[in-house]
Amino acid sequence: MKIGILTSGGDCPGLNAVIRGAVLHGVKTHHDTFVGFRHGWKGVLTNDAIALDRTDVRGLAGEGGTILGSSRTNPLDGPDAGVATVATTLQRRELDALVVIGGEGSLAGAKRLADEGLPIVGVPKTIDNDLRGTDYTFGFDTAVSIATDAMDRLRTTGESHHRCMVAEVMGRHVGWIALHSGVAVGAHAVLIPEQRVGMPEVCAWVQDVHERGRSPLVVVAEGFIPAEREDVLAENGTDAAGRPRLGGVGALVTAEIEQRTGIETRNTILGHVQRGGNPTGFDRVLATRFGMAAVDLVHESRWGQMVSIRGTEIERVDLSEALAGLKTVPQHRWDEARALFGR
Ligand code: F6P
Repeated sequence: MKIGILTSGGDCPGLNAVIRGAVLHGVKTHHDTFVGFRHGWKGVLTNDAIALDRTDVRGLAGEGGTILGSSRTNPLDGPDAGVATVATTLQRRELDALVVIGGEGSLAGAKRLADEGLPIVGVPKTIDNDLRGTDYTFGFDTAVSIATDAMDRLRTTGESHHRCMVAEVMGRHVGWIALHSGVAVGAHAVLIPEQRVGMPEVCAWVQDVHERGRSPLVVVAEGFIPAEREDVLAENGTDAAGRPRLGGVGALVTAEIEQRTGIETRNTILGHVQRGGNPTGFDRVLATRFGMAAVDLVHESRWGQMVSIRGTEIERVDLSEALAGLKTVPQHRWDEARALFGR
């Protein structure tokens, strides 16, 4: 078969490992040939692709970023977009299938195209780990490791100066990175979008830790909003992509802590560092298995499905299952972590 691949949306450590897994498995097991579309859906809409063979994916398992480039282009939105354009590119390239490696937005586009009869399968991707239908997405473990390492460092400098340290991590809608890295580092407070927490409560935890002679460490997901500042999103407006501008909840929490407790407090935004660099061993293995399984999905003509992991087994699920709302942090996981905060 002749198979197209694209990487879409925000990049994520492990994308290259998916491409490598798919190409190696496809070439060696099924004698497939591959092309990679450049810059996500943009490459499909403009018919911009490169051939991918075994030599092109050599050594890619451990490399961050994506050799194909990525973009947030929507295949169904815009003057040159639409089902017909995508179908024409697939025909011109004589492709039997398209493997879409993407997050919620990209997979929603993939599903609509598959519903229109195009031969498309998905591979779930996000460092935020907020896609349903799969226990984990690759990139999440890497992001947690980077955040944990950074916060280990914040801890030692915080202790030296008896300061409170605030670390803002990614997580626009969900708090998985904050929760896991916070528990891993032994944070004194973890603030996530799913939980309504007010600054008086946060300050009580911070004060308590400080009184015991320790330097408080607070992890805040970028999408968290303090209970008494729910007006902040409306104030910030939207960004160029039309998404609510998050803009500095770490700074807001830092200022509030300092003002309310009098404890010297510093803010660090980890930002895109969490998405950069090489994937962890766990993510390399998961991404490779996803790439291989996506090719099997193609050979089984399971259009409109994506690969997933349940426990330790690779499975396949309908894209509709993955797109049925975000996978948020459940209450019991929050309660578990909450038991460790403050006193
Ligand atoms: O979806 C992953 C994510 O990393 C979010 O946590 C974050 O808000 C967003 O991407 C950042 O996107 P961009 O790279 O477009 O700034």
